[in-house]
Formats: sequence, structure tokens, C-alpha cells
Amino acid sequence: MVERILIVEDDTTIRVTVGEVLAKQGYEVDQAGDGREALALFGARNYDLVLLDLRLPDMHGLEIMKAMRESDEQALVVVMTAYPEVRTAIETVKAGAYDYLNKPFELDDLKELVRRALETLRLRREVERLRVSAAHAAPLEGMIGASPAFLAMVEVTRRIAAAQRVPVLIRGESGTGKERIAQAIHNLSPRAAGPWITLNCSALAEGLLESEMFGHERGAFTDAKATKLGLLELADGGTLFLDEIGDLALSLQPKLLRALETQTFRRVGGQKEIKVDVRFVAATNRDLDAMVKTGRFREDLYYRLNVGSIDAPPLRERREDVLPLARYFLGDAAKVMGMNYPAMDDAANGLLENYPWPGNVRELRNVMERALILSGGASILPVHLPKEIAASAAPDRAAASAQDSALLSLDEVEKRHIRRVLEACQGNKSAAAKRLGITRLTLRTKIAEYGWSEFLDKAESAAER
Ligand SMILES: Nc1ncnc2c1ncn2[C@@H]1O[C@H](COP(=O)(O)OP(=O)(O)OP(=O)(O)O)[C@@H](O)[C@H]1O
Ligand SMILES: [Mg+2]
Repeated sequence: MVERILIVEDDTTIRVTVGEVLAKQGYEVDQAGDGREALALFGARNYDLVLLDLRLPDMHGLEIMKAMRESDEQALVVVMTAYPEVRTAIETVKAGAYDYLNKPFELDDLKELVRRALETLRLRREVERLRVSAAHAAPLEGMIGASPAFLAMVEVTRRIAAAQRVPVLIRGESGTGKERIAQAIHNLSPRAAGPWITLNCSALAEGLLESEMFGHERGAFTDAKATKLGLLELADGGTLFLDEIGDLALSLQPKLLRALETQTFRRVGGQKEIKVDVRFVAATNRDLDAMVKTGRFREDLYYRLNVGSIDAPPLRERREDVLPLARYFLGDAAKVMGMNYPAMDDAANGLLENYPWPGNVRELRNVMERALILSGGASILPVHLPKEIAASAAPDRAAASAQDSALLSLDEVEKRHIRRVLEACQGNKSAAAKRLGITRLTLRTKIAEYGWSEFLDKAESAAER
């Protein structure tokens, strides 16, 4: 792109000289001899930079600059001024000019200042472009989300993925999608064609974990009947995902650090240095900072892992994503179970959006799968949601039912009352029957009649079919 510069200067010699010098530099140059002409040009075309003399026959340069910046607050202006006006030049910089040149000036200084100003402009535009593209970034494959917090995380993930040797630490509460992010890092990296190996650091006892990670030589310990390759070797050329890294035993941490730093290691019981090319991605829902302070996690390993760091935001900090995720999980589950895709009732939607989701996305997925089963494929209603979620709007529901209970049939009143008692007793049928003054068997018959499968035990509802 050729940058366009407007020169505003009443001294013809200066104006023409400066114009020629800049044109020779490859810029497109327009010239104006007074303020009126300058503003007319400025209004008609886009300029990347304006070189502005302060003393003009019809207007003061400061006025012109203010008018320009009013119509385009990004307008880049360099002020040219003779000695007595230096104070005003400083004023103009305060008012938003990029810089000023004292006349007479060296043409080289002019060229340098113009180059620098335009460089600033390019950087500004770059930042703006990144900001906009981050906002429109496609989510990671198969991951749902369009909230600012989610998209910002996606953008960071993409960038880190591209730097294929940088170790990554993904932090976030349970169920926020850390494992999905780790996988996306692999898939988006130049290593995508290489192996993707995962190791859960909390699943195995220390010794087993060590031989799982590094492998062992034959005879390294009693059970080592044959040489075994470690996951590090299997991950060669690809990515090793260390899940729950916060649970890694302190004794293994220096060994992992060494592998991270040198890309070499030894099998348990082995002498040979084995060289690999592995990218390490780790995840944790623990507070590693705190663990470092209390000596439960090595600081050097922490810093080494945390070169590329990604924070997976909790669901409550991206509520806009709750309903799209809910619909996604509902559709998924309906497909798997061969059921119709159910509608979601407004009240249920409201409850989902307001709930704090301590178990994050995983909890939402479980809730939707359960709701689908309870609804039998009809609309998802508040009663199909777990109590802790339904309870968050209990006052509204009570008010609504008080309003419309006036004209109900006796049967309907009985049905609603039984439901309320059941809910109050948290589904405990013996307790509910006692409250209602009926036998447990009668209550069970009623429940079956109303089709409230959520209040039948698994065994009972199986027997029912
Ligand atoms: N943005 C998303 N879109 C679709 N599904 C998601 C999204 N985020 C997470 N999930 C799903 O939520 C569940 C939990 O995700 P994941 O296992 O990656 O969480 P985690 O942060 O590793 O949890 P933990 O700390 O408990 O191990 C998975 O079934 C995952 O597929
Ligand atoms: Mg996980």
C-alpha cells in the first residue's frame, strides 16, 4: 500500500521541495497552500499523514489540526514550525500532533520523522486488525463458544499452538475444557500429523508413573521382564499431554524438568541417553502458584512449563455461552439416543443462564443429558433440571403458582400438591407419603400415573417398562 501524505505550507519553495523529496521516497503526495484548501483536500481523500505548517495566511495550524482530528481522531499530524512558535508546537503535540519539526530542518530529519510516523500508524493498524480478528476468530474445532472470554482464549491458543516447541500450561477449574484445549493445540500445530499422547499424572502411583513416562530397561525392577518404551518416546515428533500436572510427585519433577529442557532422558534402569522431539502440554485445576510457595511444586518446573500459559475461563464468566452449549449437548444426546430434539422452555433457559455452574461445561453437559431423558423428548422444563438449579428461581415459581391456582380442578390441585411435597422431600417417597397422609404404594401409583419418571428409582422405572 502506498501511503498518502498531505503537505500544508504557504511557502512555495518549502512545500515543493518537501513534496519532491517525499514523492521520491515512494509516497503519494498532495499539497495545500492554505487552511481552506487543506481542509477541503482532507475532507475529500484519506491521508495517512499530514505535514502542517502552523502559520498560514487564513487560519492557524492548531485550528486546522483540531478540525482534522475532529473528523478523524486517528489522523496523524506532524507540525512544521519556525523558532518563535516552538511553544505552540509543544501545545500542538499536547493537542494530539504526533511530533514537530523546527524550521529550517534537514531533509534527512524530515524523512526519518515521516518514516517513524508511518511506522507508528502501521503498528496501530496492525493492533486494530488483531483486535478485530480476535473478535471474529473461529472457535476451536468442535468447541462451542462466542463470548469475549472464550474467543480471547481461542486466540491465545491458536498463537501458542503455532509455536510448536513452546511448552504450555493450561489452567482452569474442573470441567472448563482444558483437555479439549490441549488437543486443539496439538491439532493446530505443525505437529498435528505426529503422535498425541496423554498421561494423567494423578492416575498412577509414583513408581508406575515414572516407568510409564520414561520407560524402563529389562530387569530395572522385579517385574520388568522386558524393555518398555516410555510415553516420551512414543510421543516423539508429536505432543505429550500431562494432565493433572499438579499431582506429579516432587521426586519426579526434576526428571521431567530435565526432559523438558534437554529433550533427552534415560529409561528407568538405563544408562543410554535417549533424544526426542516432543512438545509438552500440561493442565491443572490446582493453584500451582500456591503450591510453589508451599514447596509442593518445583518453581523451576513451573516457570519452564508456564512459558505458554492459557487460562480456561469458568462458565460463570461467559454466561452467553451457556444456552448455545446447552442446545449443542441436547442435540448431541438426542442423536445418540435416537430421540427428537426437544424444545427448551423459557423458564428452563432462564434457570440455566443464572446458575453459577461450579462444575462448568462438564456439569452442563450432564445436566442436559439427564434433562433429555427425564423429558422423554418433549420440552425441557424446569422440573427436568436438578434441584439446585431449579431452586435458584423458586420464589418466582411460587408466586406464579399462587396466581393461577385459584381456578384449577381438584385433580390438578392434587397433582401439583403431590409434586410440591415430593420436591420438598427431595424425592424421598416414604417421607412424602407420610406428609400427604397416604401410603407409599398409593403415592407410587400416582407418580406412575403422572409419568414423573424422575421420582421413580432406577429399578422401579425399569420394572415399569
Ligand atoms: N467449549 C466447549 N464446547 C463443547 N464441549 C466442551 C467445551 N468445553 C468443554 N467441553 C466438554 O466438556 C467436558 C469437560 O471438558 P474437559 O474434560 O476438557 O475439561 P477439563 O478442564 O479437562 O476438566 P478436569 O479439570 O475435570 O479434567 C468434555 O466432555 C468436553 O468435551
Ligand atoms: Mg481434564
